[in-house]
Amino acid sequence: KKPNAIYLPVRDNSQGENLGSLDTWEAWKTTINHYKTKQWYCQPIIDGEISEGVQLQPIYPSYQLDRTLGYYSGASIEQIKQALSIAEYSLPQWRNSPLSQRCDMLRTYAQTLQNNKAELTCLLMYEAGKTLRDALNEIREAIDFCYYYANLAEQSLHAETLVSVTGEKNTLSYQGQGTFLCISPWNFPLAIFTGQIAAALVCGNTVIAKPASVTSLIAFRATELWYTAGLPGYALQLLPFQRGEQAEAVLKDSRIAGVAFTGSTQTAMALQQQLASRGDGAISKLIAETGGINAMIADSTALPEQVILDVIQSAFNSAGQRCSALRVLYVQEDIAEQIERRLVGAMDTLVIGSPEKLNTDIGPVINKAAMDRLFDHIELCRAQNKLIHELPLQEQHNQGYFVPPTLIKLHSIDELPDEVFGPVLHIIRYAREDIDRVINEINRSGYGLTFGIHSRNDHFINKVIAGIEAGNIYINRDQVGAIVGSQPFGGIGLSGTGPKAGGPNYLKSFSREMTVSRNT
Ligand code: ALA
Repeated sequence: KKPNAIYLPVRDNSQGENLGSLDTWEAWKTTINHYKTKQWYCQPIIDGEISEGVQLQPIYPSYQLDRTLGYYSGASIEQIKQALSIAEYSLPQWRNSPLSQRCDMLRTYAQTLQNNKAELTCLLMYEAGKTLRDALNEIREAIDFCYYYANLAEQSLHAETLVSVTGEKNTLSYQGQGTFLCISPWNFPLAIFTGQIAAALVCGNTVIAKPASVTSLIAFRATELWYTAGLPGYALQLLPFQRGEQAEAVLKDSRIAGVAFTGSTQTAMALQQQLASRGDGAISKLIAETGGINAMIADSTALPEQVILDVIQSAFNSAGQRCSALRVLYVQEDIAEQIERRLVGAMDTLVIGSPEKLNTDIGPVINKAAMDRLFDHIELCRAQNKLIHELPLQEQHNQGYFVPPTLIKLHSIDELPDEVFGPVLHIIRYAREDIDRVINEINRSGYGLTFGIHSRNDHFINKVIAGIEAGNIYINRDQVGAIVGSQPFGGIGLSGTGPKAGGPNYLKSFSREMTVSRNT
């Protein structure tokens, strides 16, 4: 088996010796040693000042469980009110700043991320359990979001002169809507955190960022780097908090003009209700990117070798902790036995282990609660005789929250309780004449995020994609790792409101339009 290729896109010479480097294997080992004992922290940042928070608690990694990574303290109600006042007060200044200046801010931040890649890589490995390859890809994606939104803003957010039939000069311009609350998830704690903030800022909104608690150390460091890059403290404030009183205090406040949220569908629904039930009747926009029960169909004309590679990548990459990940593979019965046999063989080559090791394919899941939920599902399927294959765990895996890649057979997607967020793939055999029923079954879940199809029959491909409800469709390839600018990402139905992140229409949703008619 070939070891994973490590893609180091840009040679990074700008780092001081102490920050470490990723250029060579030797440098990588030095970097890991440097950060092995570092303690990070997360506290509220208000108007650029780090503030003493409440509810101090330690943050542990998802492997090397005897280590404490750092400490988290949340924002108090008082601090939330203070941050909201500052965001409101400074809004005109940020909203009216030149667009080119805000675009340059994003580009400088991208470079700052690049300059701090070694530390961010370690944080992503330790706090989020990302493998080295995933961590590097995530930093790359965060950087891509910044450049893409900076360029897009320059192209699409400038004022336009409109046609005039009456002699006035008519212009249409775009402005920030107000203060955006950006709520980001733990599975892309840097890329999505950065994408939401960069989009909101470049459009002229002030931002309050609320990161996932389990990955708040990364969020804190990423926020500090915005100030290093030169962003004024009032434009972006960090409010770490958990559900409850604090969440209510922010969401009930009509100074929040919009919410950008990535996370579960249930939380998106709760957010929508909370925003709608505000006493003051203010209308706030919700941009939600949520989950999916993503399927792939492989018919009997598919190339088996390619199906196996793409299924392994789609289902098990990032330990299946991607909202885009493949959960249910439908295989035409004529090739099902062959595909299952090859899948089992390919699964057996996967290496489960420490994210620090270069040959690791499957790192840990995010925490004990996630691991327990996945094992409950696997055990239930085992008891129902549905288990086809699971990789054995070794003693060293007690060091972390490892869940082995597992293959489960089903008769229908309806047997799934909901999104199973981990390295668990379900497989369903279908007969050729049943394809319409299969399409209906997939759509019936109400989700519509990613969908994959493997076939060499164009007629079949066209028929299936005409019937499938999904935001991102992938043909004869894997279905994860959307590229910013090339594969705008986001679902439909229960999977999200749109617009697509990394796509040409994203920024307009963070903007308000203003028409000025000047009679000269
Ligand atoms: N945007 C991420 C992917 O495509 C979730 O895998």
